[in-house]
Amino acid sequence: MGRQRSPFKINNVWLVSSYDDVKFCLEAHETFSSNKFKYLFEKSDLADIDQGVLSEVKNMLNSWILHSDYAEEVVQLKYQLTALIHSYEDEEFKSIMETSLSNITQKIDPQRCDLKNDIVIPLMIKLAKFILKIDKSFDEKECYTHVFQVAYLLQKTTFTKDDILAFHESLTYLNACAPNQLSASMKIQYALIIYAMTFNTSNLITNTLFNMFTHDYNWDALKIKDIITETLRTESPLQSVMRVATTDIEMNGKQIKQGDFLSVIIGSANRDERVFGDNAEEFLMNRKRKPLLSYGIGMHQCLGQKLSQNIAIHIIPKIWELVKTSEIQHITWEDLQGFRSVESMVINEKHKEITV
Ligand code: HEM
Repeated sequence: MGRQRSPFKINNVWLVSSYDDVKFCLEAHETFSSNKFKYLFEKSDLADIDQGVLSEVKNMLNSWILHSDYAEEVVQLKYQLTALIHSYEDEEFKSIMETSLSNITQKIDPQRCDLKNDIVIPLMIKLAKFILKIDKSFDEKECYTHVFQVAYLLQKTTFTKDDILAFHESLTYLNACAPNQLSASMKIQYALIIYAMTFNTSNLITNTLFNMFTHDYNWDALKIKDIITETLRTESPLQSVMRVATTDIEMNGKQIKQGDFLSVIIGSANRDERVFGDNAEEFLMNRKRKPLLSYGIGMHQCLGQKLSQNIAIHIIPKIWELVKTSEIQHITWEDLQGFRSVESMVINEKHKEITV
């Protein structure tokens, strides 16, 4: 048994879902561009929007590393950004992780804790601030509003005036927060990097904890890296990425036209039975490891892979130790296409069985 061979078209978007096809689309960056925005702006009716606001937003979205199709430019920027997000002392970082976690958990109401909003998000904002060397005033709520706006824009296939205005408003404080010594092209990446660090890594941590709450293993006896890896397969924070065809191309007998949008479904590729076997849908700790596509592949492969995993490996056991006698009381997921993101995960102490 295997899933249907992709691609197929629904609501004018090609869905690419098998492992081989997803890999192919991500690697062929010249044919499948990740800069859908230049097409999106052409297709959207934004005539009555302030032209200054529109050009500021266009300039930012087109300048993000993720939307560049020029390998040389991407390599250069990736090099600088990788240096930026790894230029900290390990010991200092560990101590920041521990102090931040302990400060946050001390303020929590033990009767009602929302793991995602009360612990994981505030923690990730503090870590992003440390790693990106942001010392200016940095409102956590405003920061998360921005982070959410980026996630929201990345999933859109048309823009409304309100989308642009909401995103523009969320940028206001960011313009001031990047350190002055950075070049303009690096500063412009801040909006994207804060999103990637806070949103995707929060989701990696929360989705792993979700799996630990909902599956019956002796977690203390297992390696945290393996638990995270199986979560990256079954509950990958980024479930799909958008691409736009730069030329007419045939794929498995289907005619894709220049300008067509493709939803490249990483989450489906990671569950492809041809690669992961008939039990690909199940969360299993003892499965044979195969390369995952959760961090992308090719020119636009994630540069935060190592950092996000280091954070998750360090933080998850510490949070688990605090919450392992609890259970999930209520969970909701974000209604954001392309993301596996918990909106709220409320936990409380497990009811103890009373034996007489
Ligand atoms: C420290 C945290 C993170 C940072 C700083 C970060 C940063 C980035 C950046 C800058 C890119 C664009 C790279 C390029 O265009 O060449 C990217 C791409 C990507 N990231 Fe991350 N990321 C982080 C965490 C994550 C996590 C936890 C996931 C999910 C498991 C993830 C999944 C991806 C994927 C799939 C892409 C490729 C997107 C595409 O090709 O369209 N990232 N990341």
